[in-house]
Amino acid sequence: MRYQSEQSLHLSLAANLARDNPLLQQGVYDHKALKNLFHTLMVLGPAFEFYYLDDQGNILTHSADPSLVKRDKVNLEPLLQLTQNRAQLPIYGDDPRHLSRQKIFSAAPVFNGINLKGYLYVIVAGEKYDSAVASSRQIRQSEYSIAILVFAIVLLFIIMLCLFRYFTNPLRQLIRDMNLVQKEGFNQVELVPNNWQKNSYSEVHQLGFVFQNMIQTINQQFSQLKNIDENRKTLLADLSHDLRTPLSSIQGYIETIAISDKNLTEQQKQTFIGTALRCTKQLKKMIDQIFELAHLDKGDVSMTYEEFNLLELLYDVKAKFELAANEKSISIKVEAKVSGNQIIKNDIGKIERVLSNLIENALRHSSSGGEIILSIETKGTDSFMVKVKDFGTGISDEDIPYIFDARYRGSNATKGNNERGGLGLAICKKLLSLMNEEISVESVLGQGSCFSFNIKSR
Ligand SMILES: Nc1ncnc2c1ncn2[C@@H]1O[C@H](COP(=O)(O)OP(=O)(O)O)[C@@H](O)[C@H]1O
Ligand SMILES: [Mg+2]
Repeated sequence: MRYQSEQSLHLSLAANLARDNPLLQQGVYDHKALKNLFHTLMVLGPAFEFYYLDDQGNILTHSADPSLVKRDKVNLEPLLQLTQNRAQLPIYGDDPRHLSRQKIFSAAPVFNGINLKGYLYVIVAGEKYDSAVASSRQIRQSEYSIAILVFAIVLLFIIMLCLFRYFTNPLRQLIRDMNLVQKEGFNQVELVPNNWQKNSYSEVHQLGFVFQNMIQTINQQFSQLKNIDENRKTLLADLSHDLRTPLSSIQGYIETIAISDKNLTEQQKQTFIGTALRCTKQLKKMIDQIFELAHLDKGDVSMTYEEFNLLELLYDVKAKFELAANEKSISIKVEAKVSGNQIIKNDIGKIERVLSNLIENALRHSSSGGEIILSIETKGTDSFMVKVKDFGTGISDEDIPYIFDARYRGSNATKGNNERGGLGLAICKKLLSLMNEEISVESVLGQGSCFSFNIKSR
């Protein structure tokens, strides 16, 4: 495209030169004069190369250094095509400075009268032009490459920056989370809201997930500890209050006897001493229970396994409470729905404590003339179901979920209920959980209650 426009622009260059030059116009061939003319023209337009050819295409005169001209003759065919307008531009003619190269040109025939003398042959965009174009193109190209290089470096830098940010982003997030935890402490459950991915390929994500889990676990344990601590404080405050009541009574009676000993009748003294003694027993019982629960809570209670007959144990416990039951005209019955023997290997002391606590409650909540049934029933090959059933006050549905909590005393208050610590069932539950067993209760208010648990032989 460039060559086409270049050639068409200089199409009539040779013709104009030939017309304007008096010598050529007249068809006179003067080697020296032409050489001078070409030289002058070359100085004016270094892009052009001038040749004078004879009618056969032989180069007669030229403007170049003779060593540069490699051809003696130029093919006339392209010249004829151009001068007679027979072909489409660009038309390439032989480049005299190269044995095989072709270039665009302008040409005009020179006539002497009507005889063709030769041709004025002008190579357009000659070697100098080419080298000028080439060097400017080279400069442009190198400028272009530098720009591309700079652009590529900047782009690479930006990409690397983005990649760096992308890869270090989780790490920065983790640091932020850790700082937050450090600042806020562990008592914020929702402290780490990030969704770290457990199965991510990124180690930072895995680390974040572990950290998040760790914080959640610590938080859970923290709030558990807080709850335990609060419960313990409340328990301690309540128990102190419970202990203070009988202690104040004891103090009161003893002070009265001490101060007005002479004014009291013997009978009054006996009554006061009797009441003080009752309060002391009550106090001792409560302190024993507190000790027992605290001991069980410590978690280092060991089991003492020995072989014993479960049915015999039931009879023994019944015997222990016989006197108290007789006082209230309550009968205690033992029932056994067992097959085979009842010898088991377990912690007899702990089972006895559970039974005693349950019978004591049953006695307290049964009215005079009532009945308490202790029963065992075979469950599988090495297991027994033990039940303590009474027909007393029963427990309301609202109370049932809480009766196994320490210090909980139900609304079915019986006489002397306020003198109690509410620890008995909590102790039962703890003792049974040491044996990996659970205690359960069925009760209808006004009809009675039945506490049951399983016992396995080791
Ligand atoms: N056999 C029972 N009949 C009715 N209520 C019972 C019975 N056993 C326990 N309870 C209820 O459960 C509560 C908790 O019992 P417990 O832990 O032994 O404490 P305490 O005997 O010191 O009251 C009792 O206050 C009572 O309301
Ligand atoms: Mg009790």
